[in-house]
Amino acid sequence: MSTRTLIRGGLVVTAAEEIHADVLIEHGRIAALAASGTTAASAWTAEHVIDATGKYVIPGGVDAHTHMEFPFGGTFSADTFETGTRAAAWGGTTTIVDFAVQGVGHSLRGGLDAYHAKADGKCTIDYAFHMIVSDVNERTLKEMDLLVEEGVTSFKLFMAYPGVFYSDDGQILRAMQRASGNGGLIMMHAENGIAIDVLVEQALARGETDPRYHGEVRKALLEAEATHRAIQLARVADAPLYVVHVSAAEAVAELAAARDKGLHVFGETCPQYLFLSTDNLAEPAFEGAKYVCSTPLRPREHQAALWRGLRTNDLQVVSTDHCPFCFTGQKELGRGDFSKIPNGLPGVENRMDLLHQAVVDGHLSRRRWIEIACATPARMFGLYPKKGTIAPGSDADVVIYDPHAEQVISAETHHMNVDYSAYEGKRVTGRVETVLSRGETVIDHRTFTGRPGHGLYTPRSTCQYLD
Ligand code: URP
Ligand code: ZN
Ligand code: ZN
Ligand code: ZN
Repeated sequence: MSTRTLIRGGLVVTAAEEIHADVLIEHGRIAALAASGTTAASAWTAEHVIDATGKYVIPGGVDAHTHMEFPFGGTFSADTFETGTRAAAWGGTTTIVDFAVQGVGHSLRGGLDAYHAKADGKCTIDYAFHMIVSDVNERTLKEMDLLVEEGVTSFKLFMAYPGVFYSDDGQILRAMQRASGNGGLIMMHAENGIAIDVLVEQALARGETDPRYHGEVRKALLEAEATHRAIQLARVADAPLYVVHVSAAEAVAELAAARDKGLHVFGETCPQYLFLSTDNLAEPAFEGAKYVCSTPLRPREHQAALWRGLRTNDLQVVSTDHCPFCFTGQKELGRGDFSKIPNGLPGVENRMDLLHQAVVDGHLSRRRWIEIACATPARMFGLYPKKGTIAPGSDADVVIYDPHAEQVISAETHHMNVDYSAYEGKRVTGRVETVLSRGETVIDHRTFTGRPGHGLYTPRSTCQYLD
């Protein structure tokens, strides 16, 4: 492995600027940038020189919402930390923040240890953890303080899934109060799960068992209601709030109204809500099961509000919520009962490309692409400027991106461990060419050169998006 790498002649794009610059990498970090062709840049030499002429040089993607080997509906998501982080690298993502899970009746510590056992030594790229809190009690609340101190600084709570991950309003308020004191960030799955369960039961009783009914019972209004309630609880607790996988226009409106009041309320959406819709859920012959996730896909009319939210910064982050279940044997568990379809979509490999397509389509600027996919997730979850930018001192997590290459997304060619693609047949312009993780080449001109165990666990500081 060479210790000095030089990336020559590309257009360096960060959230803050775009410059034609050469990038010098030493000992796994960005050592310096200088405008291409200047005396300073021309004097640099290195053992490994990458010609990026005509390409973008961008920070590696930060996907702040993935679920590898995640237990759901009696099965586990199909990507391991090894396969999932390899696929992430192929897609230009160099850091994931996955979710360790506290089981009901168990400690946060036990849940976190179990996720370290799954991930440590297996990952191709760097990784960190949020903690799913499924059992808020006195002991859990005390453990939250310890986790924040050691770099697990965000906690996901669920207003959905009664009997599994669900917390009631009192538990949510207590966790928020704790986070207000210890600097943690509460991430909320905002759907009214109690009301949804009533609608599920009624739908099934009417014989409405197909995947499309998943979208019908998980109503946009029940996402908006929960979003509103979460915001009010966060105000009462004086805690910041990050709402995950926002899909409904009405929920974006709740976030926008809160932000107009100056509240520390943030929102994330995902590529599936930007590019897919209830049309996919309605695909015949149970194909709709491939698109079952929660919050659910919405009618196409919701997408304009999501794109607008991303432009106005009422939504700050696009993560994947990568949670793949194979069609064969996993999604099929819900034949005859949509409520038994494991929830989640694959996407960790597709996010950077789909968002580049959004640049091509005119939804986002190039810099906003990098901001929502790299810089802001890093700041939101305490990884900046180690991750999320290209600046002296930052980790050399760098992607050489070919903005002109054409590709067709397909399960035939993807690297995720799942037997279908949610974006099968979609043409996109732009493709990852080469990926460096801390200066080591993990994808070299579209050949995988990474290795499990290169990726390191990365403790995080508290949210840096509040200042
Ligand atoms: O359907 C989804 N989103 N599955 C993953 C779990 C979650 O709620 O994020
Ligand atoms: Zn969720
Ligand atoms: Zn999720
Ligand atoms: Zn090379």
